[in-house]
Amino acid sequence: MADLHETARALVAEGKGILAADESSGTIKKRFDSIGVESTEENRRAYRDLLFTTPGAEEFISGVILYDETIRQSSADGTPFPKLLESKGIVPGIKVDLGAKPLAGSPEETVTEGLDGLRERLEEYYGLGARFTKWRAVISIGDGRPSEYAIWTNAHALGRFAALSQEAGLVPIVEPEVLMDGEHSIEESFRVTERTLRALFTELFDQRVEREGTLLKTNMVVSGYDGTDQADIDTVAELTIRCLKNTTPAAIPGVVFLSGGMSDEDATARLNAMNQREPHPWELSFSYGRALQAPALKAWGGDESNVEAAQQAYLRRAKFNGAARTGSYAPDWEREQVPA
Ligand code: 13P
Repeated sequence: MADLHETARALVAEGKGILAADESSGTIKKRFDSIGVESTEENRRAYRDLLFTTPGAEEFISGVILYDETIRQSSADGTPFPKLLESKGIVPGIKVDLGAKPLAGSPEETVTEGLDGLRERLEEYYGLGARFTKWRAVISIGDGRPSEYAIWTNAHALGRFAALSQEAGLVPIVEPEVLMDGEHSIEESFRVTERTLRALFTELFDQRVEREGTLLKTNMVVSGYDGTDQADIDTVAELTIRCLKNTTPAAIPGVVFLSGGMSDEDATARLNAMNQREPHPWELSFSYGRALQAPALKAWGGDESNVEAAQQAYLRRAKFNGAARTGSYAPDWEREQVPA
Protein backbone atom coordinates (compact mmCIF):
# COMPACT_ATOMS: atom_id res chain seq x y z
CA MET A 1 0.00 0.00 0.00
CA ALA A 2 3.05 2.31 0.30
CA ASP A 3 2.81 3.26 -3.39
CA LEU A 4 -0.85 4.16 -2.97
CA HIS A 5 -0.09 6.51 -0.10
CA GLU A 6 2.70 8.13 -2.08
CA THR A 7 0.54 8.60 -5.18
CA ALA A 8 -2.33 10.02 -3.12
CA ARG A 9 -0.01 12.52 -1.49
CA ALA A 10 1.59 13.47 -4.83
CA LEU A 11 -1.85 14.27 -6.24
CA VAL A 12 -2.42 16.84 -3.50
CA ALA A 13 1.14 18.24 -3.45
CA GLU A 14 1.45 21.86 -2.35
CA GLY A 15 0.40 24.38 -4.97
CA LYS A 16 -1.01 21.73 -7.31
CA GLY A 17 -4.31 20.09 -8.19
CA ILE A 18 -5.98 17.83 -10.73
CA LEU A 19 -7.33 18.53 -14.21
CA ALA A 20 -10.52 16.57 -14.88
CA ALA A 21 -10.40 15.87 -18.62
CA ASP A 22 -12.54 12.74 -18.42
CA GLU A 23 -15.67 14.03 -20.13
CA SER A 24 -17.60 11.09 -21.57
CA SER A 25 -18.42 11.18 -25.30
CA GLY A 26 -21.84 12.70 -24.53
CA THR A 27 -20.44 15.42 -22.26
CA ILE A 28 -17.58 16.45 -24.55
CA LYS A 29 -20.10 16.71 -27.39
CA LYS A 30 -22.07 19.21 -25.28
CA ARG A 31 -18.88 21.22 -24.63
CA PHE A 32 -17.96 21.16 -28.34
CA ASP A 33 -21.52 22.13 -29.33
CA SER A 34 -21.10 25.27 -27.20
CA ILE A 35 -18.21 26.40 -29.46
CA GLY A 36 -19.64 25.03 -32.70
CA VAL A 37 -17.09 22.25 -33.14
CA GLU A 38 -17.99 18.79 -34.34
CA SER A 39 -17.21 16.04 -31.82
CA THR A 40 -15.06 13.76 -33.97
CA GLU A 41 -12.41 11.47 -32.53
CA GLU A 42 -9.67 13.65 -34.05
CA ASN A 43 -11.13 16.89 -32.65
CA ARG A 44 -11.38 15.33 -29.21
CA ARG A 45 -7.76 14.15 -29.51
CA ALA A 46 -6.52 17.53 -30.72
CA TYR A 47 -8.28 19.36 -27.89
CA ARG A 48 -6.89 17.07 -25.19
CA ASP A 49 -3.47 17.29 -26.88
CA LEU A 50 -3.42 21.06 -26.53
CA LEU A 51 -4.24 20.82 -22.83
CA PHE A 52 -1.70 18.09 -22.08
CA THR A 53 1.17 19.75 -24.00
CA THR A 54 0.70 23.18 -22.39
CA PRO A 55 4.21 24.26 -21.39
CA GLY A 56 4.54 24.90 -17.66
CA ALA A 57 1.17 23.39 -16.64
CA GLU A 58 3.03 20.76 -14.61
CA GLU A 59 3.93 23.48 -12.09
CA PHE A 60 0.27 23.59 -11.01
CA ILE A 61 -1.20 20.29 -12.21
CA SER A 62 -0.38 17.07 -10.33
CA GLY A 63 -2.66 14.66 -12.20
CA VAL A 64 -5.06 14.41 -15.11
CA ILE A 65 -8.21 12.26 -15.19
CA LEU A 66 -8.63 10.67 -18.62
CA TYR A 67 -11.55 8.98 -20.33
CA ASP A 68 -11.41 5.46 -21.82
CA GLU A 69 -10.98 6.82 -25.35
CA THR A 70 -8.36 9.38 -24.29
CA ILE A 71 -6.06 7.01 -22.40
CA ARG A 72 -5.66 5.09 -25.68
CA GLN A 73 -4.90 8.21 -27.77
CA SER A 74 -1.57 9.89 -28.53
CA SER A 75 -0.08 13.34 -28.92
CA ALA A 76 0.58 14.68 -32.43
CA ASP A 77 4.17 13.31 -32.29
CA GLY A 78 2.87 9.80 -31.54
CA THR A 79 3.57 9.76 -27.78
CA PRO A 80 0.70 8.03 -25.95
CA PHE A 81 -1.05 10.52 -23.64
CA PRO A 82 -0.26 8.62 -20.42
CA LYS A 83 3.45 8.59 -21.36
CA LEU A 84 3.41 12.28 -22.24
CA LEU A 85 1.86 13.20 -18.88
CA GLU A 86 4.22 10.95 -16.97
CA SER A 87 7.24 12.57 -18.68
CA LYS A 88 6.09 15.91 -17.26
CA GLY A 89 5.70 14.48 -13.76
CA ILE A 90 1.90 14.50 -14.04
CA VAL A 91 0.11 11.36 -12.80
CA PRO A 92 -2.32 9.85 -15.33
CA GLY A 93 -5.71 8.77 -13.96
CA ILE A 94 -8.86 7.26 -15.42
CA LYS A 95 -12.60 7.58 -14.95
CA VAL A 96 -13.89 4.03 -14.58
CA ASP A 97 -17.59 4.38 -13.87
CA LEU A 98 -20.06 3.87 -16.73
CA GLY A 99 -22.40 6.68 -15.77
CA ALA A 100 -25.41 7.39 -13.56
CA LYS A 101 -28.53 5.38 -14.51
CA PRO A 102 -32.12 5.55 -13.16
CA LEU A 103 -32.38 3.86 -9.77
CA ALA A 104 -34.88 0.96 -9.78
CA GLY A 105 -37.78 1.82 -7.48
CA SER A 106 -36.85 5.51 -7.39
CA PRO A 107 -36.45 6.48 -11.05
CA GLU A 108 -36.05 10.20 -10.31
CA GLU A 109 -32.74 9.29 -8.68
CA THR A 110 -29.67 7.58 -10.09
CA VAL A 111 -27.18 4.92 -9.22
CA THR A 112 -23.80 4.78 -10.90
CA GLU A 113 -23.04 1.63 -12.86
CA GLY A 114 -19.82 -0.07 -13.94
CA LEU A 115 -18.92 -2.66 -11.29
CA ASP A 116 -19.32 -5.73 -13.53
CA GLY A 117 -15.96 -6.60 -15.06
CA LEU A 118 -14.29 -3.73 -13.22
CA ARG A 119 -11.43 -5.86 -11.85
CA GLU A 120 -10.33 -6.76 -15.40
CA ARG A 121 -10.74 -3.19 -16.67
CA LEU A 122 -8.62 -1.86 -13.79
CA GLU A 123 -5.86 -4.28 -14.66
CA GLU A 124 -5.88 -3.06 -18.24
CA TYR A 125 -5.84 0.63 -17.21
CA TYR A 126 -2.89 -0.01 -14.91
CA GLY A 127 -1.07 -1.53 -17.89
CA LEU A 128 -1.90 1.56 -19.95
CA GLY A 129 -0.20 3.75 -17.30
CA ALA A 130 -3.04 4.89 -15.02
CA ARG A 131 -2.14 5.23 -11.35
CA PHE A 132 -5.42 6.53 -10.01
CA THR A 133 -9.13 6.13 -10.75
CA LYS A 134 -12.35 8.08 -10.36
CA TRP A 135 -15.98 7.05 -9.81
CA ARG A 136 -18.75 9.64 -9.66
CA ALA A 137 -22.09 9.17 -7.91
CA VAL A 138 -24.79 11.79 -8.40
CA ILE A 139 -27.11 12.94 -5.60
CA SER A 140 -29.81 15.51 -6.34
CA ILE A 141 -31.77 17.74 -3.95
CA GLY A 142 -35.47 18.60 -4.17
CA ASP A 143 -38.97 17.13 -3.93
CA GLY A 144 -38.13 14.64 -1.20
CA ARG A 145 -34.75 13.79 -2.71
CA PRO A 146 -32.33 12.38 -1.86
CA SER A 147 -33.72 9.18 -0.38
CA GLU A 148 -31.63 7.18 2.10
CA TYR A 149 -31.92 4.40 -0.48
CA ALA A 150 -30.12 6.47 -3.15
CA ILE A 151 -27.46 7.67 -0.73
CA TRP A 152 -26.61 4.18 0.56
CA THR A 153 -26.83 2.41 -2.80
CA ASN A 154 -24.38 4.89 -4.30
CA ALA A 155 -22.12 4.76 -1.23
CA HIS A 156 -22.00 0.98 -1.46
CA ALA A 157 -20.96 1.13 -5.14
CA LEU A 158 -18.29 3.72 -4.29
CA GLY A 159 -16.96 1.33 -1.65
CA ARG A 160 -16.84 -1.57 -4.12
CA PHE A 161 -15.05 0.61 -6.66
CA ALA A 162 -12.52 1.88 -4.10
CA ALA A 163 -11.67 -1.56 -2.74
CA LEU A 164 -11.15 -2.98 -6.24
CA SER A 165 -9.00 0.02 -7.25
CA GLN A 166 -6.68 -0.39 -4.28
CA GLU A 167 -6.40 -4.12 -4.97
CA ALA A 168 -5.21 -3.18 -8.49
CA GLY A 169 -2.62 -0.69 -7.15
CA LEU A 170 -4.65 2.37 -8.13
CA VAL A 171 -5.60 5.28 -5.84
CA PRO A 172 -9.39 5.67 -5.87
CA ILE A 173 -10.93 9.13 -6.01
CA VAL A 174 -14.38 8.63 -4.55
CA GLU A 175 -16.74 11.27 -5.87
CA PRO A 176 -20.23 11.60 -4.46
CA GLU A 177 -21.44 14.80 -6.15
CA VAL A 178 -24.38 16.57 -4.54
CA LEU A 179 -25.66 18.62 -7.46
CA MET A 180 -25.82 22.39 -7.08
CA ASP A 181 -28.95 22.64 -9.27
CA GLY A 182 -32.20 23.54 -7.50
CA GLU A 183 -33.75 26.16 -5.27
CA HIS A 184 -32.44 24.75 -2.00
CA SER A 185 -30.69 26.80 0.68
CA ILE A 186 -27.06 26.39 1.64
CA GLU A 187 -28.23 24.79 4.90
CA GLU A 188 -30.00 22.09 2.88
CA SER A 189 -26.85 21.57 0.81
CA PHE A 190 -24.96 21.19 4.10
CA ARG A 191 -27.40 18.58 5.46
CA VAL A 192 -27.46 16.49 2.29
CA THR A 193 -23.69 16.63 1.79
CA GLU A 194 -23.21 15.60 5.42
CA ARG A 195 -25.57 12.60 5.07
CA THR A 196 -23.89 11.60 1.82
CA LEU A 197 -20.35 11.75 3.19
CA ARG A 198 -21.29 9.96 6.39
CA ALA A 199 -22.72 7.05 4.37
CA LEU A 200 -19.69 7.05 2.07
CA PHE A 201 -17.15 6.76 4.87
CA THR A 202 -19.20 4.07 6.64
CA GLU A 203 -19.08 2.00 3.45
CA LEU A 204 -15.37 2.64 2.87
CA PHE A 205 -14.65 1.50 6.42
CA ASP A 206 -16.86 -1.60 6.18
CA GLN A 207 -15.33 -2.57 2.82
CA ARG A 208 -11.78 -2.29 4.24
CA VAL A 209 -10.68 0.57 2.04
CA GLU A 210 -7.47 2.20 3.26
CA ARG A 211 -8.20 5.81 3.97
CA GLU A 212 -4.53 6.86 3.54
CA GLY A 213 -4.62 5.68 -0.07
CA THR A 214 -7.91 7.35 -1.00
CA LEU A 215 -8.88 10.88 -2.06
CA LEU A 216 -12.32 12.42 -1.66
CA LYS A 217 -13.75 14.44 -4.54
CA THR A 218 -16.82 16.35 -3.53
CA ASN A 219 -18.93 19.42 -4.04
CA MET A 220 -18.53 22.58 -2.03
CA VAL A 221 -21.51 23.38 0.21
CA VAL A 222 -23.31 26.14 -1.73
CA SER A 223 -26.80 27.61 -2.22
CA GLY A 224 -28.82 25.95 -5.00
CA TYR A 225 -28.28 27.80 -8.29
CA ASP A 226 -31.95 28.77 -8.52
CA GLY A 227 -32.30 29.80 -4.88
CA THR A 228 -33.15 33.43 -4.10
CA ASP A 229 -30.51 33.77 -1.39
CA GLN A 230 -26.94 33.13 -2.59
CA ALA A 231 -24.41 32.54 0.20
CA ASP A 232 -21.19 34.58 0.02
CA ILE A 233 -17.65 33.23 -0.25
CA ASP A 234 -16.99 33.19 3.51
CA THR A 235 -20.19 31.27 4.27
CA VAL A 236 -19.40 28.71 1.55
CA ALA A 237 -15.87 28.27 2.91
CA GLU A 238 -16.98 27.94 6.52
CA LEU A 239 -19.89 25.55 5.94
CA THR A 240 -17.87 23.38 3.54
CA ILE A 241 -15.05 23.02 6.06
CA ARG A 242 -17.50 22.31 8.89
CA CYS A 243 -19.25 19.66 6.82
CA LEU A 244 -15.92 17.97 6.01
CA LYS A 245 -14.77 18.09 9.65
CA ASN A 246 -18.01 16.40 10.71
CA THR A 247 -17.64 13.53 8.26
CA THR A 248 -14.22 13.07 6.67
CA PRO A 249 -11.47 11.12 8.46
CA ALA A 250 -8.19 12.95 9.04
CA ALA A 251 -6.43 9.93 7.50
CA ILE A 252 -7.65 10.97 4.04
CA PRO A 253 -4.67 12.85 2.52
CA GLY A 254 -6.78 15.28 0.54
CA VAL A 255 -10.15 16.56 -0.56
CA VAL A 256 -10.31 17.70 -4.19
CA PHE A 257 -13.34 19.75 -5.14
CA LEU A 258 -15.33 19.52 -8.35
CA SER A 259 -16.46 22.79 -9.90
CA GLY A 260 -20.00 21.61 -10.74
CA GLY A 261 -20.96 24.54 -12.94
CA MET A 262 -19.64 27.31 -10.67
CA SER A 263 -17.98 30.13 -12.56
CA ASP A 264 -14.23 29.69 -12.89
CA GLU A 265 -13.65 32.74 -10.69
CA ASP A 266 -15.98 31.47 -7.94
CA ALA A 267 -14.31 28.06 -8.00
CA THR A 268 -10.90 29.68 -7.45
CA ALA A 269 -12.02 32.28 -4.88
CA ARG A 270 -13.90 29.74 -2.76
CA LEU A 271 -11.01 27.28 -2.68
CA ASN A 272 -8.69 30.17 -1.80
CA ALA A 273 -10.95 31.23 1.10
CA MET A 274 -10.88 27.69 2.50
CA ASN A 275 -7.11 27.50 2.34
CA GLN A 276 -6.84 30.86 4.09
CA ARG A 277 -8.54 29.18 7.05
CA GLU A 278 -5.79 26.63 7.72
CA PRO A 279 -4.89 24.39 9.41
CA HIS A 280 -7.06 21.51 8.21
CA PRO A 281 -6.42 17.80 8.72
CA TRP A 282 -6.38 17.20 4.93
CA GLU A 283 -5.10 19.11 1.90
CA LEU A 284 -7.89 21.06 0.23
CA SER A 285 -7.36 21.07 -3.53
CA PHE A 286 -9.13 21.06 -6.88
CA SER A 287 -10.11 18.52 -9.50
CA TYR A 288 -11.86 20.89 -11.85
CA GLY A 289 -13.23 20.18 -15.29
CA ARG A 290 -15.18 23.20 -16.47
CA ALA A 291 -13.52 25.73 -14.13
CA LEU A 292 -10.08 24.89 -15.56
CA GLN A 293 -11.11 24.42 -19.17
CA ALA A 294 -13.88 26.90 -19.99
CA PRO A 295 -11.70 29.85 -21.10
CA ALA A 296 -9.36 27.52 -23.01
CA LEU A 297 -12.21 25.83 -24.84
CA LYS A 298 -13.58 29.19 -25.89
CA ALA A 299 -10.18 30.53 -26.97
CA TRP A 300 -9.54 27.40 -29.05
CA GLY A 301 -12.86 27.26 -30.90
CA GLY A 302 -11.61 24.28 -32.89
CA ASP A 303 -9.04 26.36 -34.77
CA GLU A 304 -5.44 25.14 -34.91
CA SER A 305 -4.15 28.72 -35.06
CA ASN A 306 -5.64 29.39 -31.60
CA VAL A 307 -3.81 26.58 -29.82
CA GLU A 308 -1.30 28.87 -28.14
CA ALA A 309 -3.98 31.31 -26.92
CA ALA A 310 -5.99 28.38 -25.55
CA GLN A 311 -2.94 27.03 -23.75
CA GLN A 312 -2.33 30.44 -22.18
CA ALA A 313 -5.96 30.56 -21.01
CA TYR A 314 -5.67 27.10 -19.44
CA LEU A 315 -2.31 27.91 -17.83
CA ARG A 316 -3.76 31.09 -16.34
CA ARG A 317 -6.60 29.18 -14.58
CA ALA A 318 -4.17 26.45 -13.49
CA LYS A 319 -1.88 29.08 -12.01
CA PHE A 320 -4.68 30.90 -10.19
CA ASN A 321 -5.99 27.64 -8.72
CA GLY A 322 -2.45 26.65 -7.79
CA ALA A 323 -2.25 29.89 -5.80
CA ALA A 324 -5.63 29.13 -4.20
CA ARG A 325 -4.07 25.94 -2.81
CA THR A 326 -2.08 28.11 -0.40
CA GLY A 327 -4.65 30.88 0.02
CA SER A 328 -2.45 33.31 -1.88
CA TYR A 329 -4.76 34.09 -4.85
CA ALA A 330 -6.12 37.62 -5.16
CA PRO A 331 -9.40 38.29 -7.06
CA ASP A 332 -7.76 41.42 -8.55
CA TRP A 333 -5.67 39.15 -10.73
CA GLU A 334 -8.78 38.44 -12.78
CA ARG A 335 -8.86 42.07 -13.90
CA GLU A 336 -5.15 42.29 -14.64
CA GLN A 337 -3.21 40.91 -17.55
CA VAL A 338 -1.15 38.61 -15.33
CA PRO A 339 1.37 36.83 -17.53
CA ALA A 340 0.66 33.14 -17.10
P1 13P B 1 -16.54 19.86 -13.15
O1 13P B 1 -15.41 20.54 -12.41
O2 13P B 1 -16.81 20.47 -14.48
O3 13P B 1 -17.76 19.70 -12.27
O4 13P B 1 -16.05 18.38 -13.49
C1 13P B 1 -15.38 17.67 -12.54
C2 13P B 1 -15.68 16.23 -12.67
O5 13P B 1 -14.81 15.44 -12.92
C3 13P B 1 -17.06 15.77 -12.44
O6 13P B 1 -17.05 14.38 -12.33
